[in-house]
Amino acid sequence: AVQGVMQKAIALAPDSWIPGGVPDPLIRERHGQTGRPVSRIDGPMKVAGQAPFAAEFPLDGMAYAAVLFSRIAKGRIASIDTAMAEAAPGVVLVMTHRNAPRMAAMPPFMSSAKAAGGNDLPILQDDRIHWNGQPVAVVLAETQEQADHATSLIEVSYAADEAVTSFAEAKAQGTKPGEFQGQPLKLAVGDAEDELAKAAFKVDAVYKTPRHNHNPIELHAATVGWDGDTLRVHDASQAVAHVAWSLGHIFGIGEDKVRVTSPFVGGGFGSKTLWDHQVLAAAASKLAGRPVRIMLSREGVYRIVGGRTLTEQRCAIGADADGRFTALVHTGTVAMTRHNAMPEPFILPARSAYQSGSFDLRVDVAYVDMIANTFMRAPGESVGTFGLESAIDELAVAMDIDPIELRLKNEPEQDPTTGLPFSQRDVEKAYRDGAERFGWTERPKTPGSWRDGEWLVGMGVATATYPYYRMPGGAARLTVDATGHVTVDIAAHEMGMGTATAHSQVTADRLGVELDQVTFNYGDNVLPGVVLAGGSQQTAAIGASIIAAQTALYTELLKLAGNDSPLAGLKPDEVGGYRGGLAALDDPSRHESYASILSRAQRDSVSAEGTPPMPLELQHWSMHSHGAIFVEARVNAVTGETRISRMLGSFDCGVILNPKTATSQFRGGMIMGLGLALTEETMFDERTGRIMNPSLAEYHVPVHLDVPEIDVIWTGIPDPHAPMGARGIGEIGITGVGAAVANAIYNATGRRVRDLPITLDKIV
Ligand code: MOS
Repeated sequence: AVQGVMQKAIALAPDSWIPGGVPDPLIRERHGQTGRPVSRIDGPMKVAGQAPFAAEFPLDGMAYAAVLFSRIAKGRIASIDTAMAEAAPGVVLVMTHRNAPRMAAMPPFMSSAKAAGGNDLPILQDDRIHWNGQPVAVVLAETQEQADHATSLIEVSYAADEAVTSFAEAKAQGTKPGEFQGQPLKLAVGDAEDELAKAAFKVDAVYKTPRHNHNPIELHAATVGWDGDTLRVHDASQAVAHVAWSLGHIFGIGEDKVRVTSPFVGGGFGSKTLWDHQVLAAAASKLAGRPVRIMLSREGVYRIVGGRTLTEQRCAIGADADGRFTALVHTGTVAMTRHNAMPEPFILPARSAYQSGSFDLRVDVAYVDMIANTFMRAPGESVGTFGLESAIDELAVAMDIDPIELRLKNEPEQDPTTGLPFSQRDVEKAYRDGAERFGWTERPKTPGSWRDGEWLVGMGVATATYPYYRMPGGAARLTVDATGHVTVDIAAHEMGMGTATAHSQVTADRLGVELDQVTFNYGDNVLPGVVLAGGSQQTAAIGASIIAAQTALYTELLKLAGNDSPLAGLKPDEVGGYRGGLAALDDPSRHESYASILSRAQRDSVSAEGTPPMPLELQHWSMHSHGAIFVEARVNAVTGETRISRMLGSFDCGVILNPKTATSQFRGGMIMGLGLALTEETMFDERTGRIMNPSLAEYHVPVHLDVPEIDVIWTGIPDPHAPMGARGIGEIGITGVGAAVANAIYNATGRRVRDLPITLDKIV
């Protein structure tokens, strides 16, 4: 079957832009590393405590930073008295807007190719306050405890301005159409309201999702130092090249004077970009003439790292008597600030998940004076699928159809809003395989009819979906040495998801060497490439870069091999990696090892850099990953407490490069989805604009006791138009889970909850 798909791919692919979706035929013959459940190569280092994180680089003469946060949402600092703090034991420096070095404002994400800032505000440059929690002072001291204590000695008084901190008030002041990545978040096909009015069956409801905060276990941190006008940053980052460029811009020194490394990251999820803390640390270090370590407190992460904003979504679906959708309306409003560009794009799934006779999709924005919101795992899809997939379940109930059958009746043959063909889409297989494995036929037909003692039991399902992306900017360098060892250099990231492992496997296969003969260097902005670990696209970006570098390397190797080699006369596209060297694709007996080529050429090593083609595959194909999320919920009939007893994710994401790390990625996403469904909610005081639960004690993420056994399967069908046949898998796991849980709770109890999180007070 794989062979067939690949042949189809070769026939379909215009060779000018295929980004290496077709692997070397020799890889399949070798039964190589790709697809093997290799354990993470960083695992032993982490277990042994040998993997240094951003706040674990001791620099000589280092001072520790603590941050004081504003207590009003908008206005000015009327007075700030730092005398007591300056006189406190161990204090090196107190930095406020009065003495901070002059710096440019943060270049906000998407304002240019390498901009990495969470907002566009200047940092400690004036007395203005833009959100409740904004940094107003930084203390440097000899110890963290001394710095923390001294911040408590700073006296600040404020002159508050009228702030908009209630969502209702923000909406009343008028909304604006949302834009995402330069495109309006608005799409209409036909007259959806008219079709809805005429529909034989319809649902029309409002779904709400709250603010969410980022809670990676590794707190946001940086250790920084200046050497003249050169800035060194040990960061926790999913965007080293972007952060380096942005800091170069802020300090007016250019990106060549900034070195950002990030060898290990303890979770990012969209939050480990550039926020005030790296800038504050670099500014304070400059002022004090000493290296600085800043590690935000958990409260600090809530105050100065943005989270996911709230959404209020109307989802209405009209269907004909057979259940075919005639109208799909998904519209609504999100909160945003005037200082960022990230309206939560909850309509993204509805663009391509189902066929419909008409569409009306729109996100509007209401401005609130709050911390700038940002990306959080599957921005758009994670909360958009809650509205969409809940509404479909409601329609299935109204029509008395199995919710899986209703979805499969509406599988589109091509992208319903762009008309593009799908690059690969086997949603039906994901559902059928998942339903069989989960035992979907056991689901009670009548809600509330399955009771086990005090517990009401039910099953729910929802579609998971996330697009394939591949951002421009990738590039990689490959080096082979005289022992046949291969080194990959690329400015990519490892946040614990297995990037270095999976790409070592890919490299071993493509170059025809064993896994232990590959070194994967990443997490350093001086390496080639501008690669974001975001949008679930890093794997595609790295893969395409390795493929491009491989072609460049083969060109060099064939030159070095010359006329005395069995490879003489072959072109780069006629050879593949094979048994520690190169071989002719059509005749592996024409083979020479890397060691032999290099020794004959009297070379120690050979390097080549490659830049992948622009991501034109996205212009020719509608490329999306999918999945079917199955949930079994048990709801206590007395207390309303929900326990999720079983979960299954059945995914359709192309080739799975490493089943072990992939399973963990899917599971991690689904666990985050459980938090979204049942517990996570940032408590935002609408009177003051202050976040009231800035801690893991009061912001509830799932713990082990909340998480059942999670089963994960996949179709594994290659995407012929993605590098390595693989689409991303980093974010899709969280999508669909909110609705699958809500739908299971409905099936268990007959209660439809349209407002996340589904806490017990909303059920009883
Ligand atoms: Mo992600 S929210 O693109 O890290």
